[in-house]
Amino acid sequence: MIFKLLPPGQPSTHVSKGFNLTSPAVEMALFRGFYSVLILQVALSLAMVHAQGDQSGFISIDCGISEGSNYTDKKSGLNYVSDTGFTDSGINGEILSRYKSNTLDLQLNTLRSFPQNTRNCYTLRPEQGKGKRYLIRARFTYGNYDLKVQPPQFDLYLGSDHWSRVGFNVSWAMDYEIIHLTSSDYIYVCLVNIGLGNPFISALELRLLDSTMYADDLRSLTSSTRTNFGTSETVRYADDIYDRIWYPIAATGSKSVQTSSPISLGSSTKEKVPSKVMSTANIPKNPTDDLFYSWRATDKTQEYLMYIYFAEIEALETNQTREFDIYLNGDYWDGPISPLDHTTSTYFTKFYNSTSYEVTIRRTNNSILPPMYNAIELYNPISLQQRQTEDQDATAMWSTKSTYELKRNWQGDPCVPNYIWDGVNCSNSDPDNLRIISMNLSSSGLSGEIAPGLANLTMIRSLDLSYNNLTGSVPKFLASLDFLRILNLTGNNFTRPLPAELLEKAKNGQLSLRSAPHLFFCSDQGKTGACPKGSCKKNKKNKVVIVVIATLVALFVLLTILIVLWIAKRRRIQDPSIVPDQRIVPSKQCFTYSEVLEITKNFSDVIGKGGFGTVFSGLIGNTQAAVKMLSESSAQGYKEFQAEVHLLMSVHHKNITSLVGYCDEGKHKGIIYEYMANGNLGMHLFDGSTHILSWKKRLQIGYDAAQGLEYMHHGCKPPIVHRDVKCTNILLNENLQAKLADFGLSRAFTTEGDTHVSTVIAGTPGYLDPEYFTTNRLTEKSDVYSFGVVLMELITGRPAISADIYIINWVKSMVEKGSVEDIIDPRLHGDFETNTAWKVVELAMACVDSSSVERPTMNDVVMDLKDCLKAEKGATPNNLNQNMSLSFESMRIPNLR
Ligand SMILES: *[C@@H]1O[C@H](CO)[C@@H](O)[C@H](O)[C@H]1NC(C)=O
Ligand SMILES: *[C@@H]1O[C@H](CO)[C@@H](O)[C@H](O)[C@H]1NC(C)=O
Ligand SMILES: *[C@@H]1O[C@H](CO)[C@@H](O)[C@H](O)[C@H]1NC(C)=O
Ligand SMILES: *[C@@H]1O[C@H](CO)[C@@H](O)[C@H](O)[C@H]1NC(C)=O
Repeated sequence: MIFKLLPPGQPSTHVSKGFNLTSPAVEMALFRGFYSVLILQVALSLAMVHAQGDQSGFISIDCGISEGSNYTDKKSGLNYVSDTGFTDSGINGEILSRYKSNTLDLQLNTLRSFPQNTRNCYTLRPEQGKGKRYLIRARFTYGNYDLKVQPPQFDLYLGSDHWSRVGFNVSWAMDYEIIHLTSSDYIYVCLVNIGLGNPFISALELRLLDSTMYADDLRSLTSSTRTNFGTSETVRYADDIYDRIWYPIAATGSKSVQTSSPISLGSSTKEKVPSKVMSTANIPKNPTDDLFYSWRATDKTQEYLMYIYFAEIEALETNQTREFDIYLNGDYWDGPISPLDHTTSTYFTKFYNSTSYEVTIRRTNNSILPPMYNAIELYNPISLQQRQTEDQDATAMWSTKSTYELKRNWQGDPCVPNYIWDGVNCSNSDPDNLRIISMNLSSSGLSGEIAPGLANLTMIRSLDLSYNNLTGSVPKFLASLDFLRILNLTGNNFTRPLPAELLEKAKNGQLSLRSAPHLFFCSDQGKTGACPKGSCKKNKKNKVVIVVIATLVALFVLLTILIVLWIAKRRRIQDPSIVPDQRIVPSKQCFTYSEVLEITKNFSDVIGKGGFGTVFSGLIGNTQAAVKMLSESSAQGYKEFQAEVHLLMSVHHKNITSLVGYCDEGKHKGIIYEYMANGNLGMHLFDGSTHILSWKKRLQIGYDAAQGLEYMHHGCKPPIVHRDVKCTNILLNENLQAKLADFGLSRAFTTEGDTHVSTVIAGTPGYLDPEYFTTNRLTEKSDVYSFGVVLMELITGRPAISADIYIINWVKSMVEKGSVEDIIDPRLHGDFETNTAWKVVELAMACVDSSSVERPTMNDVVMDLKDCLKAEKGATPNNLNQNMSLSFESMRIPNLR
């Protein structure tokens, strides 16, 4: 760091010291000669007149000046702006007037302090972008601005990397500088409160350097001192076009020499030291003396990079020579050196392993003239990890923040560990490349349209925009976000239907989509569109009448569901070009009662009946559908009707029956589903069914249904508990693909963090989780229990309860006997693989464990069933019906017996 003395009320005597913050006892003896003469020229340059140079690589922020203002500094010609737009926290302050001095840079009079938040950041985005080397300078002057007479200490960060601890006293100005090769377009300078007072900052400056400068070490360099000998003047812009600040030094026993001729850069000088700095130098007053430069380090491991610059600036007689060697802590380092006439040469070295250093410049025996030095720079290299959000993601986040004028504490890098933006989650699987994977802007007061910048969050998996005041249409690009699995748009004022692409993804089970009903269904009347010719496929499957009655409890029953490829002359297609081959995109249509009458041919074909409604077959265009009408008398049913409509509108998965439309006209309430040609699973399993489902088919059906349930439990936020999983609520389409149906009892866990909800007990005897029954606490594990019963039904072909035999007890007793053949449905005639059979039995047993915590999750169930299916596919007739006891030995589940 570079240090400048500002004695209150005194004129500008600049003293620069090699200073190490944690060790105030820093000493720099510049000259140890016989004489001790203070050579400080009082020649102050009162007004430096500079040509206005090119400041295109500069960002100059005067913190704490009035918002949006800017000015050109008279002394330096630098153009300063206020910190508006670079930070959005903190408050303006000003140092007390007695600490302001004429010579003090104007920028140090005002400051921004940060009484709020632990960490506050400035975001710099230089036009020249990443891969460039920049000098970044943070400047501080406390000046008792807060009247506490207690200068704070705090930490300075560059992005996620610690840059320095900052501390000072009341009157001194401090500069912290770092030379840094950026790997990101964004540079975040952050002040972190460490409990020792509120952080503040007076000025922040960024300077683009030439890429060859300070490239001797690839690490970042914090500057320790930058000293200009032989002058009392501070040199910076525009004498130094990179605006390094070269401080003069109070040197005892030396004398200064200078030239008025310009100094050129020698070939060894990549550092572009300005001519003005090189045109002054120090020599010892006594020509036989050495020149010294010394300082102390806090600890031995502190590494230093040193640049010493020499140029001959005196006119030498022909017989005169100046020649010297350089020593570091007494050891010869380099030489003999004869400075080139009015040309800069640089000597560079790195070192560490001492707590005090002394550089000695000693003339050689051949030298007539004394040694001289013009300038020295000292740096401490630090390794920065530079873990930052990928630029594209960062840009999207910043544009989102500004589009919605978000007031939340979004500062610095969005993904920075420990200070990750509120509501944002990042993937850090690749340490160099943090990516945004989720964003939750629920209830954040957003208005206007969905920000186009979100299109660039290409790795996002979950986006929650619910409960805002967003308007306009939902953009198509959301469907192009390949990894997006959860999208919540509920509670906004979108005016147009969802893009077909998005619905298609939801439909395929790639996306959990939640949105307001009217986006799925038409809310505005009169918009009908004929289905474009050839765009809709006909469902030619036979109707299969579905009759399902769950007779066990009067509360509910069955529903049936349905299907479709869908179509309709009444389907509204607003832009046929975006839905070229639209097959089963859910209708955005609400149906009138008269339309329902037409679809169902006046309710002529009953395919199911339930406690609160009747299911009819229907035809929309050429496509079959199932229509469940709520019986007018059923008050209980209306709640379930609503629950189901809402759920099906927001949940889309290939193993969940989909909604075609609904009717809500006065007393007439109905739901139209896709038609499920093969009815419900119970019809295929139990006595009386003529078609026997093969073992493999059964596994596939179990796997399908498990996936639907898994999606409700783990793909939906909040998770949804079906509450009535049973065979008759698993429907089969024409390909025997299974889908869950009947969501009238489903419950979503509304509050995050809740692991259960208390509800009135509901469900079907035989499938009902005993723990839920006794505790009234509903969790996903209740569905797992019911699913276990379904699995048992699938493999045994026996209903959950028959003739007083409860399937779970029966299976348990058979397992105890160790005979799997007797458990598996005899109608399969042994056509199954024993290993897999055992596995499924095990799994079913685990699912119905009386203690919910012992039960697997649906994730586990899906994985296990998938393994079983795989094994089954790989099975050959030879390894079927293996020796029972052997395969049993190989199994792991201990609690089976
Ligand atoms: C401020 O700190 C510097 C460096 O330690 C010291 O030389 C100076 O005297 C201090 N000034 C005051 C007013 O404490
Ligand atoms: C988003 O945050 C809200 C409120 O904090 C919460 O209810 C909701 O579940 C969150 N959404 C997601 C997808 O986590
Ligand atoms: C997305 O990023 C690209 C490149 O980073 C940029 O050109 C484009 O403007 C960004 N798109 C939006 C909508 O912000
Ligand atoms: C939502 O936006 C509309 C239209 O811009 C506006 O009239 C309404 O006041 C806003 N509501 C809220 C709660 O901000």
